[in-house]
Amino acid sequence: MIRYVKAAELTECSSGRPKRVIVEDTEVALFFIKGQFYAVQNECPHQHFSSMHEGIVNGLEVTCPMHGWTFDLTTGQATVGGGRLKHYAVKVVGNDVLIEAPNPDPDWALK
Ligand code: FES
Repeated sequence: MIRYVKAAELTECSSGRPKRVIVEDTEVALFFIKGQFYAVQNECPHQHFSSMHEGIVNGLEVTCPMHGWTFDLTTGQATVGGGRLKHYAVKVVGNDVLIEAPNPDPDWALK
């Protein structure tokens, strides 16, 4: 069973601009495209810049602004370059945008 945690409020995301959020000490890039949310790790697997939220969005792909590696937002898989962004499930409950907890263990902060 997926554990979800609050990442943002729906009203914060209505502009459609990608958003950087920090959830359980993990940086996540949150995209709102044509009424759907997509969440991926913010750190590019190329040279580990936390820049995916500043990437160029084209359809359902995001291109890292640093060197152009490109990733499918539905899977996190690279379509240009290599590697994969961790991809998180997203759901909306009321005004809360919830994402799959980056740390599956609910006691992660206690360790
Ligand atoms: S750091 Fe993203 S493509 Fe190089």
